[in-house]
Amino acid sequence: MHGDVDTRRAINDDIEDLTKVYAKSYGSIEQAGKHVRDFIENHGGRLAVVDGRLVGVLFWMQRETASHGQAEIVDLWVEESERRRGIGQTLLKESIREIEDHYLSQGQTLKVMLLFTTEGNSPARMLYEKMGFQVAANLGDLTGLGDKDILYTYSPAQRSENEKS
Ligand SMILES: CC(C)(COP(=O)(O)OP(=O)(O)OC[C@H]1O[C@@H](n2cnc3c(N)ncnc32)[C@H](O)[C@@H]1OP(=O)(O)O)[C@@H](O)C(=O)NCCC(=O)NCCS
Repeated sequence: MHGDVDTRRAINDDIEDLTKVYAKSYGSIEQAGKHVRDFIENHGGRLAVVDGRLVGVLFWMQRETASHGQAEIVDLWVEESERRRGIGQTLLKESIREIEDHYLSQGQTLKVMLLFTTEGNSPARMLYEKMGFQVAANLGDLTGLGDKDILYTYSPAQRSENEKS
C-alpha cells in the first residue's frame, strides 16, 4: 500500500537526502552534493515525500535575466515504486505555478519553459505532452549515448489561449 504524497519546495535541510538520491546516478557523493546545493541555493526545486521518504524531485532554473522570461526544467525524477501515481504531473504543475510567481515577483512574466529529454524516454514524453509541452526541435544524438535528444517547450500564454477555445 502507498502512503499519502506531500509536495513542497526544496530547502537547505533537504540537501543531505537529495544528495543520497543523486549519488546513485552520479556515482559520487561529492558531485551529487555540489549539484543539489547549487539548485537549492541558486535556483528552484520541489520535492515529493511519502511517509517521510523522499520519492520525487524537480529542479528548475531561470535562464538569462528575468526580463527574458525563460525557465528550464533541469531534472525530474520519481522513485520507481511510486511512479504512475500522478507525482511527476503534480511536481510539474506546481513548479509551473512557482516559476510564474518567481517571474511575477520581479515584475516580469514567464514566457517560455524548456526542457530536454530523449526520444526513447516514453514515460517522460507522455507526461510532458499531456501537460501541453510541444516538441520544438529534434536534436539528434548529442551525447553519443545512443538516444536522440529532443527539446520541448511550453508557453503559459499558449495554455491560456487553449483554455479559452
Ligand atoms: C518521467 C517520470 C518523472 C514520470 O513520473 P510519474 O510520477 O510516474 O508520472 P505521473 O504518474 O504523474 O504520470 C502522469 C501522466 O504521464 C503519462 N505517463 C507517465 N508515465 C507513463 C508511462 N510509463 N507510460 C505511459 N504514460 C506515462 C501518463 O499520461 C500519465 O497519466 P495517467 O497515469 O493518468 O495515464 C518517471 O517515469 C521517472 O522518474 N522516470 C525516470 C527519470 C526520467 O526519465 N525523468 C525525465 C527526465 S527528462
